[in-house]
Amino acid sequence: MIKNLYLVGFMGVGKSTIARALRRRIGWELVDIDSMIVREQGMPVAQIFAERGEEEFRRIESETLARISEGKHQIISCGGGVPMRQENIRIMKENGICILLTASPYVILRRVEKDTSRPLLQGKKTIKGISGLIRERMPYYEKACDERVSVNRRTVRMVVDEIVRRM
Ligand code: S3P
Repeated sequence: MIKNLYLVGFMGVGKSTIARALRRRIGWELVDIDSMIVREQGMPVAQIFAERGEEEFRRIESETLARISEGKHQIISCGGGVPMRQENIRIMKENGICILLTASPYVILRRVEKDTSRPLLQGKKTIKGISGLIRERMPYYEKACDERVSVNRRTVRMVVDEIVRRM
């Protein structure tokens, strides 16, 4: 039996939505790393970036991932930057399986267009901007994941079915 299920993927791909649907399906506890950070730090992610800088956010993120990973039977929804650190990849590999959710830049753009909570997307909300960021991230995502599942033209239920089949 696997210990934890990590969901990774680019901002706006739908990790939180899929994580909630998975919880309903398999009954595991759901832990959203960003929500936990916001709760514990008492401020939104954008404010942590603005006041303390990205490096400090990444430090808190890694520390949170490590702490959560001590538990079991959890669906862990990771912020899009988690696989950027080798240490985080190691923690995920040691404590569960990692599913990469993918979507086309068009799908991502449609979902993040009106969003103001993600500092790394400010000024990048074009197909070119999003495609460039996805291209930079993909090697890290590939390295981190055990399975990849596309959300393009699929309902939440179809994506959940596929994840459960691959668990
Ligand atoms: C980030 C993704 C965000 C959040 C932060 C940085 C990233 O989470 O952790 O804004 O570097 O990709 P989501 O993927 O849930 O948007």
